[in-house]
Amino acid sequence: MSDVQAAPHGRGTGIPYPFDIRPLTDTGGAEITGLDLAAPLDDGMRDAIMRAFLEFHILVFRGQSLTKDQQAVFSKNFGELEHHVGRLPDGSPYPIVHTVTNLDEDGKPTPGAVALGNYFFHTDKSYHDIPSLMTMLHAIELPPSGGDTQFANTQMAYDALSPEMKARISGLKAEHSWEASRRNSGAPPATEEQKRERPPVVHPIVRTHPDTGRKSIYLGNHVSHILGLPAAESDALIAQLMEHVGQPQFTYTHQWRDGDYVMWDNRCLLHRALRNYEMATQRRVLHRTVIIGTAPY
Ligand code: SIN
Repeated sequence: MSDVQAAPHGRGTGIPYPFDIRPLTDTGGAEITGLDLAAPLDDGMRDAIMRAFLEFHILVFRGQSLTKDQQAVFSKNFGELEHHVGRLPDGSPYPIVHTVTNLDEDGKPTPGAVALGNYFFHTDKSYHDIPSLMTMLHAIELPPSGGDTQFANTQMAYDALSPEMKARISGLKAEHSWEASRRNSGAPPATEEQKRERPPVVHPIVRTHPDTGRKSIYLGNHVSHILGLPAAESDALIAQLMEHVGQPQFTYTHQWRDGDYVMWDNRCLLHRALRNYEMATQRRVLHRTVIIGTAPY
């Protein structure tokens, strides 16, 4: 039992949690111990996890061991599971519980196996009309050190903008697309079929969180440009805001431990994988599920 109160980064209710929870940083993140996510979840516990999720944005459940099926069951407590748009090397769709890894098709570590876009700050599926609400990663195999995931709190970053910048970006919209995501990360260009399958979408730059009402900067690696601005001005503004969001005072770097199960809120965070391990020789395997969200406004 914990009596953690509201943290500066969130909107805590002050109601005690029915599990042990410890804030990790002022930027976000809380560690939860003593729960077995493979066990059935009752509504009260589910609601308490969701309350902590809204307060801390990133929940780190320690000491978990879930099969893919158990991860799917646990994930569905929080909404509808999202299918991944990517394809496996053989062209088949990703399974609903898919693997994020640096292993190639033969199971060998390689720096080239992971989607390049994962290494740039992004918010999941912002190239969809309805982007992701929540992403969950379960550590299966980890390098001895490194292989971290870094988060940037886009609400704190928004709050810290000058009144002039808030006024400047209020009402602006940006185009997000799979094509831009690949271009921005240096990945091979999207094919004509991929472009047809995933046409560009437009979202506000300032997003209001549907559950807390807090505003955040909604950009990231999937962004192509800001509508209505000359290209150079759009590029400069995106770069300025992304540099602002990525400052250390807004970021939390998760150093994975065996058994970690991490869930985060894509509506108020950017995230990226760090290349801070020996990718050519060490193994990193995580199982991933994503919950569909709502249209940004
Ligand atoms: C992701 O971008 O969803 C994966 C992040 C990671 O591999 O740490």
